[in-house]
Amino acid sequence: MNRYNDQVVLVTGGAQGLGAAMATRFAAEGATVAIGDVNIDAATTLAESIQRQYGTVCTARRVDVTDSASVNEWVNIVAGEQERIDVLVNNAGIIRDNKIDDIDDVDWHTVLNASLTGSFYCTRAVLPHMRSRQYGRIVSFSSMSWRGNYGQANYVAAKAGIVGLTRTIALETARHGITANAIAPGLIETPMLASMNAPARDKLISKVPQRKTGNPEDIAEAAAYLCSPAAGYVSGIVLDVDGGLGIGSSIR
Ligand SMILES: NC(=O)c1ccc[n+]([C@@H]2O[C@H](COP(=O)([O-])OP(=O)(O)OC[C@H]3O[C@@H](n4cnc5c(N)ncnc54)[C@H](O)[C@@H]3O)[C@@H](O)[C@H]2O)c1
Repeated sequence: MNRYNDQVVLVTGGAQGLGAAMATRFAAEGATVAIGDVNIDAATTLAESIQRQYGTVCTARRVDVTDSASVNEWVNIVAGEQERIDVLVNNAGIIRDNKIDDIDDVDWHTVLNASLTGSFYCTRAVLPHMRSRQYGRIVSFSSMSWRGNYGQANYVAAKAGIVGLTRTIALETARHGITANAIAPGLIETPMLASMNAPARDKLISKVPQRKTGNPEDIAEAAAYLCSPAAGYVSGIVLDVDGGLGIGSSIR
């Protein structure tokens, strides 16, 4: 299936985890992919491997999504080289978990900036390019925890913010052939999940109705649909990809 032939896809935080799985998936379906990540070494290694494997163009650039100048420069370079931007995946995000009393100013702002402000900066940068061609797909990363999660006030605020941002992008771009949606992953096997302490992780898995974690490919599958031309009438949604975790308790 080459539904992304001739399309240009930007993935933030694409050096590892979900971003790497999505960059790989878009390339496998024919896209030219631009990875923007603070981890330029891992991003470059992945981009080279994708190019070798799929024979498509895949670029890597050191981009810090919390810095609007860095974002604007990246977007302008990609748009200049590729002459179009079809898809933006706002995937970059970090966690700095603590109870509210123990979240210091730095950990509050760092988490909000990486997820929420970064998604805003990237969206603002790509919109003129999408509007000029009256086509675009924007997918931003929320989390199942956007509804509230103990010990994650900064992350929850960022991920709930992504929902509001997404719905507003959807409204403001609806008449320009652009859609905006969010993905709310549950527990997916990535370095971010591996960084959680084991007891907390196991407790969470026991609450998943399917009693298992998801794979990055589960998320890539959802993103590949939402960003495809075929999903043109789907906008402003939050797609849970979580084995049913967001439904509520499944303890028998
Ligand atoms: N893995 C999960 O279970 C899970 C669950 C819910 C939501 N999410 C969300 O999915 C997204 C991806 O998660 P992941 O598990 O792949 O994380 P990860 O930590 O494995 O990868 C995140 C990537 O983002 C990059 N990054 C961090 N800050 C950046 C910045 N300022 N500018 C550019 N790049 C930056 C990192 O270098 C890294 O490559 C995140 O937004 C995360 O909050 C993940």
